[in-house]
Amino acid sequence: MDTKLVRLNRGDLKKEDFAEAAELIRQGRLVAFPTETVYGLGGDALDEAAAAKIYQAKGRPSDNPLIVHIADIEALEKLAAEIPDAAYRLAERFWPGPLTMILKKSSLVPAGTTGGLNTVAVRMPSDPIAQMLIRESGCYIAAPSANASGRPSTTRAEHVMEDLAGRIDMVLDGGPVEIGLESTIIDLSEEKPLILRPGFISLEELKELLPEAEYDRAVISRVQEKGVVAKAPGMKYRHYAPKGNLVIYEGSEAAVIRAINKEVQEKLAAGGRVAVLATEETKEKYAAGRVISIGSRAEEATIAANLFEVLREFDEEGIEYIYSESFDTKRLGQAIMNRLLKAAGYQVIQAEDDVL
Ligand code: TXA
Ligand code: MG
Repeated sequence: MDTKLVRLNRGDLKKEDFAEAAELIRQGRLVAFPTETVYGLGGDALDEAAAAKIYQAKGRPSDNPLIVHIADIEALEKLAAEIPDAAYRLAERFWPGPLTMILKKSSLVPAGTTGGLNTVAVRMPSDPIAQMLIRESGCYIAAPSANASGRPSTTRAEHVMEDLAGRIDMVLDGGPVEIGLESTIIDLSEEKPLILRPGFISLEELKELLPEAEYDRAVISRVQEKGVVAKAPGMKYRHYAPKGNLVIYEGSEAAVIRAINKEVQEKLAAGGRVAVLATEETKEKYAAGRVISIGSRAEEATIAANLFEVLREFDEEGIEYIYSESFDTKRLGQAIMNRLLKAAGYQVIQAEDDVL
């Protein structure tokens, strides 16, 4: 299959630009498109055959449900069997935007879209390209992140082509995305609202409307705990991992830099290809190896925006050993570390300060 790449001009989006993509969606075929979080791999959410194609294109296990993207609140009423008041309150504050809600599904939604679950994940994206594709197609669009299963999510159309060219019908190129991490997922289908995946919308913000909201235990765990099963099926899989061995260092800035420099020297001496995942604030302090700055600690959104692209870069450069600082930044730290820990297979080292 040839994958058609269509460049869109964000300054001047016209309905006609979406005619072909919308028709493909209506025909049950696949179109990748940008959202404000990451690129999505879209197909008609009510068409089980389209959902099956999504799983196949990504190489994704079919028990891992898809998020259904909508453009208006009436759609939520069609897709969900029960809508608690909390869902309306969250929608009013955070939609359109990077929040996904899990609700009991209506009979309209096929089991093929929800991985056999009786709940459905719904999100109203704010990206105008995503909105226009949904509106012009007249469909609800099921869209997982547009990456090959296991690889970092995609934040540019080039990444989507890398992973999915030849496997899907079209990619709408709207340039780099804004946020760079997937949406916050909140489960409202049971008594207690639980965050199943941290994202750009933080627990603190959600608590302003839903004081009883909490993280699912599997989300905040710093290790892969035995017996703690993630409630979002997708959160249990190995994810985002670069081919090289990634290890995260925690501790004071000085201790982390010293420990990483030491490891880098040893691996270089042994002939390894070594990289350091640093920040604008620290990049000059690493003596050797390929040093990549992920962004600035002073502007944590830059770290979120670059994370997946940086993880892809290590593979392109054939890096074997990656040493990363840790990013417990104020607002997005939980979301950033959730992805980075998975990418590192939970390998974390405590760098000790020198005892004088
Ligand atoms: O920002 C995003 O959410 C992006 C863009 C494209 O919208 N989409 C995305 O989809 O990240 P995906 O498929 O890569 O991740 C969806 C996650 C998975 O971990 C999946 O298991 C979980 O949501 N999920 C979907 N439906 C669910 C349900 N009914 N119950 C529990 N978890 C669900
Ligand atoms: Mg994904």
